[in-house]
Amino acid sequence: MRNEIEKLANIIKDSKCLVVMTGAGMDTESNIPDFRSQNGLWYKVDPAKVATVEAMYQNYLLFHEFYSARIKNMENVVPHKGHYVLAELEKKGYLKSIATQNISGLHTRAGSKNVYELHGNIRRIKCNECGTRHTIEDFLDKKNCNKCGKNFLRPEIVLFGEMLPNNIWDRAIRDVENSDVFIIIGTSLQVSPVNQMPYIAKGKTIYINMEKARGYNFDLEIIGKAGEILGELGEILL
Ligand code: APR
Repeated sequence: MRNEIEKLANIIKDSKCLVVMTGAGMDTESNIPDFRSQNGLWYKVDPAKVATVEAMYQNYLLFHEFYSARIKNMENVVPHKGHYVLAELEKKGYLKSIATQNISGLHTRAGSKNVYELHGNIRRIKCNECGTRHTIEDFLDKKNCNKCGKNFLRPEIVLFGEMLPNNIWDRAIRDVENSDVFIIIGTSLQVSPVNQMPYIAKGKTIYINMEKARGYNFDLEIIGKAGEILGELGEILL
């Protein structure tokens, strides 16, 4: 693994436009479970019952319970070494931007500036009916919307079947297209449209993950824990 990390460090040193994409595997070392690993959320809960707009309308109490628990479980999480290394790579001018599927906000909390939250952020709340912004407390207290009066407050995240926020997606894709090195960290690449990004990248693609992904041909694969691998990378580059 050390050889591969040194190879990655050299690739980064030579790169002119480095872009990173992350998934839930980037946050597991911060005690946020991912979705499709053995201890993943979707092994415990059927996403069709909690993570679609239809599910929200059909059983708002179950939807509310699921996302309240996620909000509370994320209240005391902190970024790990890997998040800080990415923030430092940006500060040192190696890294242009991070496109993340994660709704935790940990990249920004670690100091990264150019972060595209492709699936939204769990700490932002809006009314599903009129779009009015609300506080986390309004959601946790099951308040009705103070503008339209409806009872459909929800986190501003992308539920299954919903479109990604256009402007954020377009800007992220532009960076991926212009990248000469694209690093994919901690994602099973099973969810579209984000899983198309490795095909859109024209430069080198590097995959850092605990498991291999099928159907992709990366220039370099490093199988292991993101925090540990990025930690070592930071020791070499920073
Ligand atoms: N380091 C590296 N890889 C890890 C680590 C770690 N510490 N922990 C887990 N992984 C890997 C797992 O092996 C798995 O391949 O991260 C991957 C996480 O994959 P998923 O659970 O499928 O998460 P993700 O790809 O981000 O899911 C995409 O699906 O459920 C929706 O909206 C949700 O954004 C999410 C999207």
